[in-house]
Amino acid sequence: MKILVTGGCGFIGSNFVRLYGGRAELVLLDALTYAGNLENLKGFEEKFQFVRGDVGDEKQVDSILAQGFDAVVHFAAESHVDRSLYGPLAFVKTNVQGTLILLEAARRHRVARFVQVSTDEVYGSLPETGVFTESTPLAPNSPYSASKAGADLLCRAHHHTFGFPVVVTRSSNNYGPFQYPEKFIPLFISNALEDKECPLYGDGMNVRDWLHVEDNCRAIWAALERGRPGEVYNIGGGNERPNLEVARAILRLLGRSERLIRFVADRPGHDRRYAIDTTKIRTELGWRPEIPFEEGLRRTVEWYRENRGWADRVRTGEYRRFYEEHYGGRMS
Ligand code: NAD
Ligand code: TYD
Repeated sequence: MKILVTGGCGFIGSNFVRLYGGRAELVLLDALTYAGNLENLKGFEEKFQFVRGDVGDEKQVDSILAQGFDAVVHFAAESHVDRSLYGPLAFVKTNVQGTLILLEAARRHRVARFVQVSTDEVYGSLPETGVFTESTPLAPNSPYSASKAGADLLCRAHHHTFGFPVVVTRSSNNYGPFQYPEKFIPLFISNALEDKECPLYGDGMNVRDWLHVEDNCRAIWAALERGRPGEVYNIGGGNERPNLEVARAILRLLGRSERLIRFVADRPGHDRRYAIDTTKIRTELGWRPEIPFEEGLRRTVEWYRENRGWADRVRTGEYRRFYEEHYGGRMS
């Protein structure tokens, strides 16, 4: 099987390539934005062919897909909610327009399977109870989630109108190695390792359902192999935790004081709670999460402790500028 993997140098994409590099012929298409890092695939260079390019570049996407592929697994995206509050256009360009360009080219070149890697955030926010199922209405609240919902709807339309075999996966928050340290868990680990304050938004009681990235990659592989065309599959770890509890666990694992937690102004539009009903993927595809949160978090903290060089190298340049602009006012 020959697969085009977009965004294969990012967090989830690189974990996917590390896990499945030997099972199929992989061609990676990645623009190497601030979040894309070929170093994530060090030691795995034999397992894939790399093409640097933008999913929004119609000509390039067409010429790559013209080589002939069995499948596309589409990870490439602008993925950080906070960035989408300050620069939403890049999200529309990559996540909406880029996905459409990819869909059209894949359809033209008769790709037999297209997996759209999406998020539970397209469903919006939950109160203290309830779960997202695949039929929960879409109600995205941030420019990021709105752009992912737009892409998901284009996938739906391509299946409905053209019979194009798209499968959409919607997962909860991932954590694990190689996650860019702007997201909550790697940011808190990296800051704590340097004895820096950890900025907790609002009252710290927003709830996320944490899913280890390897569990998500296994679900995506199952959807690629066995998902029914036109269907959506929710993926969740069953690990609902308030942010404050996760922050405390990280500091405990690192032997740091809880005094490093700094409550800061809330994120505008901050979704309160996410929770996933995974019945469909469990029953149809036989998938279930395998990594308990406490063990996954311990392994992740250990990975960041042992790979401080990796984190130091990505925490420079563009990232540092964004960090200062974003947190400068709130942390001073
Ligand atoms: P990431 O930001 O770590 O990586 C994104 C990758 O896409 C990078 O390698 C980047 O260089 C590449 N990219 C960005 N714009 C591009 C473009 N225009 N053309 C080609 N490549 C481009 O993201 P991630 O956390 O690995 O997320 C991967 C996918 O999973 C995204 O679609 C995201 O919406 C989805 N998702 C992520 C999570 C999560 O918790 N991280 C949860 C659910 C869904
Ligand atoms: P994040 O990792 O940005 O993922 P998402 O917004 O897509 O869920 O944030 C996870 C949770 O952590 C979310 O409730 C916001 C919160 N958070 C903080 O409290 N402080 C931070 O510095 C960041 C980045 C996130």
